[in-house]
Amino acid sequence: MRAFFSAGKNMRTIEWNSSSNELRMIDQRILPSSLEFVICNNDLQVADAIRLMVIRGAPAIGVAAAYGMALAANQYGGDNVGELKNKLSGSADLLISSRPTAVNIKWAVHKVLDSIYDINDSCKTIKNICLQTAHDLAENDIVTNKKIAEFGEALIQDGDTIIHHCNTGSLATVDWGTALGVIRLAHERGKKIQVLVDETRPRLQGARLTAWELAQYGIPFHIITDSAAGYFLSKGEVQRVFFGADRVARNGDVANKIGTYMLALAAHENNVPAYSVFPLSTVDMDTLNGQLIPIEEREEQEVLDIQVGGRVVVPQGARARNPAFDVTPNQYITGLITEKGIIYPPYELNLRKAAASPGEGF
Ligand code: MRU
Repeated sequence: MRAFFSAGKNMRTIEWNSSSNELRMIDQRILPSSLEFVICNNDLQVADAIRLMVIRGAPAIGVAAAYGMALAANQYGGDNVGELKNKLSGSADLLISSRPTAVNIKWAVHKVLDSIYDINDSCKTIKNICLQTAHDLAENDIVTNKKIAEFGEALIQDGDTIIHHCNTGSLATVDWGTALGVIRLAHERGKKIQVLVDETRPRLQGARLTAWELAQYGIPFHIITDSAAGYFLSKGEVQRVFFGADRVARNGDVANKIGTYMLALAAHENNVPAYSVFPLSTVDMDTLNGQLIPIEEREEQEVLDIQVGGRVVVPQGARARNPAFDVTPNQYITGLITEKGIIYPPYELNLRKAAASPGEGF
């Protein structure tokens, strides 16, 4: 993995370079202080980039994993189809284990494996199909996000103040975003809205990434501490809450960035509608409810590394717990905004209908 600096604009979060056959991703660890890219040449580097959160956000890491499969195929120098397929199944396991909660990685990797399942003629064909499948997933991500935005935007009223959690924008996807894409479309359509941006401890995806994106789109916003959300909701200052999803269980329970559960509880208590926004690739029909979703626990240091005035604030030797996600039970969620439309309770029935429907609507 190597990194370089560029000040280019209008780039995608993740992009394939077809002249060098390399994968380029924006390094989200250091935004917004500088805009740099990381280049990956093989599946190990992609798995590392996902684990270290160079790239993050459920749809974006799904696409990254698909390209990781294409890179793994390209790296294979032999001409034995069976051997290549074995290698790819090892790469699939590696990529799926890089971050356990977002189901999009598993979904994308299986899309690639399915695309070559019946192909046995040559390694070259398999390599081409892996890459084409990754390209298709990347393009489809943007189309899907725009459909999601069309449905979600209709919920936003002129003058709304919206609380948004984590980062669900262009950076969390290939481009455009999910929950933030909804907000962006409402703004582009002339609705006068403002956003209260949860800073989203400990990695500060809200304060760093969402704020960076909102500033570029010209959408008015204030950053708030995560614990201030309840205050603003109780004061009647918030009309809607939007957040993304990393895995949605069959019953509509939503695993999303840590803090979503408390936010949804506070919204429910104050009769403010709270929506989870995601592509249907985030739904895991094999998981019956949210308690069965694996929750990633990350390094203690992410929580402990706080400095105020250049000084470390926690006592030496202090320990931390750092679950990266929590589960919001379905009863606290007003609706699930997807590319097929807005899904309301009963979630299990309606998620099944949406997943099964071939076109828009369900
Ligand atoms: O740990 P992260 O930054 O990958 O977590 C991301 C989130 O929780 C997002 O809200 C979610 O992936 C939806 S992104 C469109």
